[in-house]
Formats: sequence, structure tokens, C-alpha cells
Amino acid sequence: HVDLGGVLGATPGVSRDSLERLDEQVATAHERIAAGRDDHERGYAALNLPARVDLDAIRSAVAPFTDAEAVLTVGIGGSALGAATLADALAGPDDPDVYVLDNVDPEHVPRLLDSLPLERTAVNVVSKSGTTAETLSNFLVVREAMADAGVDWTERTVVTTGESGNLRALADAHDLPSLPVPDGVPGRFSVLSPVGLAVAAIQGHDLDAIRAGAAEAADSLSGSLFETPAYAYGAAAYALANRGATTNAMMPYAERLETFAEWFAQLWAESLGKDGLGQTPTRALGATDQHSQLQLYRAGPREKLVTLLRPTDRPACPIPETDLEGLSYLGGSTLGDLLDAEFDATGASLAASGVPVIRVEIDGIDERSLGALLYGMEAACVLYGELAGVSTFTQPAVEWGKRAARGLLGGGEFEEAEAVEERTSLR
Ligand code: PA5
Repeated sequence: HVDLGGVLGATPGVSRDSLERLDEQVATAHERIAAGRDDHERGYAALNLPARVDLDAIRSAVAPFTDAEAVLTVGIGGSALGAATLADALAGPDDPDVYVLDNVDPEHVPRLLDSLPLERTAVNVVSKSGTTAETLSNFLVVREAMADAGVDWTERTVVTTGESGNLRALADAHDLPSLPVPDGVPGRFSVLSPVGLAVAAIQGHDLDAIRAGAAEAADSLSGSLFETPAYAYGAAAYALANRGATTNAMMPYAERLETFAEWFAQLWAESLGKDGLGQTPTRALGATDQHSQLQLYRAGPREKLVTLLRPTDRPACPIPETDLEGLSYLGGSTLGDLLDAEFDATGASLAASGVPVIRVEIDGIDERSLGALLYGMEAACVLYGELAGVSTFTQPAVEWGKRAARGLLGGGEFEEAEAVEERTSLR
């Protein structure tokens, strides 16, 4: 559920009339999106994943690892954040612990590997291109650490990658179980493919329910923002950015959704930050950041949209009674009541000072709701990109950095690396 009440009359704000006018553009954008999906065009193809993803293939590729004590995902950006989002949101007490190795920090990597039970760890290596320096380097380090510990890494590794590239060659050479990155699906739109779902499958989560939630969100896409929650979010965010809300603070009120805010930040930044346009995503956590960021959101520069996200159903956790008079108001209440009260209070506090707020509510933090949320935000992002006229599915700045890094390490002749060398020689 997406509630736009908090953007009407805010500063910057959007009036009901302007949303109605914008709805004509939403209808046109929706036609474009539908045509892209019909033709399975690059990027738009991601919105077809609920109908196309092969869940049995995922389950059978990870079958050898379902008894793992730990799962280590080696990947970066869109090849890591989806899996991490699902793992952090859905983790149960008996699930294997999930770790992500994305950065190539020379202190962190060996320390993490030293802490893992390598003989009982499943390694999930993910790279669509199969050439990303961080992922491939980290994997080589992991592989060696396993070999040094007497563990046959070929028995503990599953790979998700595209049809060609170094990682595909490596998977073939060692006969590793492997999964495809579906055609036309950019990294940050791949959570509903094997890229995001392999770890969820190892953890034993209900992939069918994730897909069903996403399929419900897909079925809800229509040519009007007033009928489609995902488009309501994307269109309002776009309109607000045009009116000066160039920052979007994603603030879930649930620890389990903290990583979702990171996933959202990548989706929004890498897809929409083009041609001098875009909306800078920031991450906050309710209620923690009420004691930190909220002051700025309420009284700082008027360039923010705040997105408040919560599950409507959550565990209660009673607050014990106390005979201390000053605390008696808490007794009989629950931590869930308190967090919900904080959510409402933050919305009201921001509204009172005219800061635009969009409230997003999901039914609970379960497979179905997450599938719907992730798909809905992808559709919102695609719609925003259409309205803004940017190239949502490319990431030239990211690719520039990748080529520069490879070139600097001697991995080929890249003009980007030469540009870096020229600039550093000027210092
Ligand atoms: O969204 C994207 O395209 C990027 O964030 C990629 O996912 C990231 O750079 C990793 O790329 P790859 O999967 O090719 O290793």
C-alpha cells in the first residue's frame, strides 16, 4: 500500500491536480513498459521474471548445499544486494548464516574467512559479466583459503553468471553447479532471478511465495498511478524530484528491512542518476534514526522526500509491567506498538513542517510481501526512468570504473586506466 497523502500540500509538494495531469504521462510510459516487456527488451525483461524464472533449476543447483552452516556470497552491487536483502529480511533462527563478500578490503576479507567454518560453508559466486575484478579476486582468495584448509572448494561452490566470461569458463572447467543470469536482466534488477534467489533457496525459504508476491505486483500494473501502487510511488517521487526533492530518504521501520534500504539505494541511484537528473537515495532506520537524521529531515534543506516503510503485521514483544510510576505508561504495551507509534509520530512530525512523506506499508516481512515489495520498487524505478527520459538500464559510470580498475592492474588496454594514470601524475 502506498499513501501519497503526505506529499499533497508539502514543500516541495505535488497537488492532486498535477498528479492527475501526470497520470497521462504515466499511461504513455506504461504502454512503453508493456511493449518492452512483450518484446523482452533489455531491462524491461526483468519485469517478466515472475513468469519466467525457473525455480526448480535454482533448487536443484543448490541442493548439495542445503545442509551448509554458512553461506558466503561473493559478488558486488546488483550481484550481492538482492541476495543480502532477502537473507536479512527472511532469516530464521535455524537458517545458515549468510555473509557477503563484496568489497576487496585486505583486512576484512581474511578476517571474515578465518571466522567461517569453511568445510561447512557454501560459496555462492555471482557475476553477470563474469569479469568484475572485485568478485573474481575475492573468489580466488576464498578458493585458496578453502584449499589451504583442506576443503575441496569445487564441492562447496555454486556459480551464477552469464553465458560467457571468466567465471563461466571457470565453472565449466571445474564442472561446478551453475545458474544463468537471464538475458536482458541488469544486475540491480536481478533479485527475482537466480542472482537473488539462490541464497534464499539454500536457506530453505519459499521461492514460490516470493514469486507469487512479485506476480501479484506485476498483475497490478495498469496505465494509471491511481490504480497501481508501484506507479504511484515512482510517479510521485519523479514529480517531487522535479520540484526540488532531489534526495529520497528510505526509512524502514524494521531491522529486517535495513538491507532493503541498501538495495533500494542502488536501484534508485544507478538506474536514475543520468544526464544531470536523478534523486539521491539515502538510508535510514526507524526508530534509530529518529535520534539522528530526523532533525535534518524536518528542519534542514527542503530537498528531501522521506519514504517511511513498515510491515503492518509484526510480532508484539510485550513490555513488562513496572511499579515505577514514570514508566507505567509503557507496561501493558509492546515493542511493536511503540515502533508503530514512532512510525506514525515521524510521519506526523514531518507533515507538520511540510516535508513530503510517502508511506509504504507491506503486510508483513514474509516471502510474499517481499516479492511484491521488490517487484513494486523495480516497477516504480522503471516508470520514473520513463518519465524522466533517462536510460534506466545502463550504468556507464560503473562500467568506466570497472574498466579503469582492470586496466590499472594490467588486465588489458583500457583508455579509462590511461585517464586515471594521467590524472594521478598531475598530483
Ligand atoms: O546493477 C549493475 O549492473 C551493477 O551493480 C552490477 O550488478 C555490478 O557491477 C556487478 O556486476 P557483475 O554482476 O557483472 O559482476
